[in-house]
Amino acid sequence: MNKAIQAVRGMNDLLPEDVVYWQRVEATAQDVLNEYGYREIRLPVVERTELFARSIGSHTDIVEKEMYTFEDRNGDSLTLRPEGTASAVRAGIENGLLHNQVQRWWYAGPMFRHERPQKGRYRQFHQIGVEAYGIAGPDIDAEMILLTSRLFKRLGLSGLRLELNTLGTPESRAAYRARLVAYLRQHLDALDEDSRRRIDTNPLRVLDSKHPDAQDILRKAPSLLEHLDGESRAHFEELRALLDASGIDYQINPRLVRGLDYYSRTVFEWLTDRLGAQSAVCAGGRYDGLVELLGGKATPAIGFAIGLERLVELVRQLGVPTDDIGPQIYLVPAGVPMATALQLAESLRDLNLRVECHCGGGSQKSQWKRAERSGARYVVQAETPTQVTVKDLRGNEGQRSLSYGDAGAYLAARFGTCGDSSNTSIRAEN
Ligand code: HAM
Repeated sequence: MNKAIQAVRGMNDLLPEDVVYWQRVEATAQDVLNEYGYREIRLPVVERTELFARSIGSHTDIVEKEMYTFEDRNGDSLTLRPEGTASAVRAGIENGLLHNQVQRWWYAGPMFRHERPQKGRYRQFHQIGVEAYGIAGPDIDAEMILLTSRLFKRLGLSGLRLELNTLGTPESRAAYRARLVAYLRQHLDALDEDSRRRIDTNPLRVLDSKHPDAQDILRKAPSLLEHLDGESRAHFEELRALLDASGIDYQINPRLVRGLDYYSRTVFEWLTDRLGAQSAVCAGGRYDGLVELLGGKATPAIGFAIGLERLVELVRQLGVPTDDIGPQIYLVPAGVPMATALQLAESLRDLNLRVECHCGGGSQKSQWKRAERSGARYVVQAETPTQVTVKDLRGNEGQRSLSYGDAGAYLAARFGTCGDSSNTSIRAEN
């Protein structure tokens, strides 16, 4: 294929056989979010570049080297959103929804980062983001973690581990930062080039370095936890008590610092060993200073985002069949005119059955081949304007000849559905 019209590296098609898993994950997430009182907000995919530079931080990897930034026809610098929190805050301020109010929001959609693509890391990827505004205490931190835990359980996932840290306030972090920089300067030899460069710009991120030579030095580095201000310490301890009381397991990771500058106090990540190098499935934390930084009135805030490619892959690995999506019945018109077949399919759908009706003609053999490939459990072959053959393709019910009405009743009973039978013009043997 001509390379010029191939998909952009790191930006993938999601094919129908993938999308069944995506739909399951998205529907489950929406149910859980609904159960916790979160409401959906839809935000633009493109924002002014300045929004991300100011909120994520000009010395972060995202802003320094990963954003898709371009000038539009007016000469304005715009950026494809690399994440959703900045937009949520912007929208909240712009629409007057944050000051003195409590908001619980979620959003979903594509994000764009020019990272080196590998399994689990893409240039266009998708997140479900969740944000809460106006609640300062650790109760909401705990509730968010409970929400994620419930979602993973609902999806049948186990083995995800929660790591937790606190970054304190900007003031307590500044004091720590000075000590950390002094320590890192004593150990420059053990640090990779990227880490050395970061000492001056974003020293806390050095703690996150995966470079093998640096691990020993970083383990022994001064800990942020020892430099916490009293309020941040109390917040963290209360959060821990709430999680303990709720039976949520976690590990404290004093080196968990996150790659975006807006965080303060609580930060957390849910990690897995099942996705190779890209282990973070969900990550977030508190960002109490961001609303004010972007021009709003000071508003406490916390949130997280789930990487959907990663979560969907974990669900796919479970190998749970996708019976809840796709046709249950494949209808082969065989001996009846197409108009009758279409009406029969409609009458089965009136019973809330999922029916794929064969269209496009072809030999009987090719129609049955399509039926087998459709994933449907039953084939309904319309033999005459009153009789069908129902064949079980995957179980041991065999084949039976039924009237249209009896076929509908039989299949509805098999799938436990019922529907609006007043509407089934073709139901009775007519
Ligand atoms: P983040 O840690 O940059 O945080 O991203 C959250 C999640 O998105 C990651 O844990 C990962 O699962 C997924 N993710 C990130 N980059 C990629 C990529 N290149 N390919 C595939 N998946 C990726 C945020 O974006 C914050 N806005 C989260 C937040 C919301 N904090 C507060 N509110």
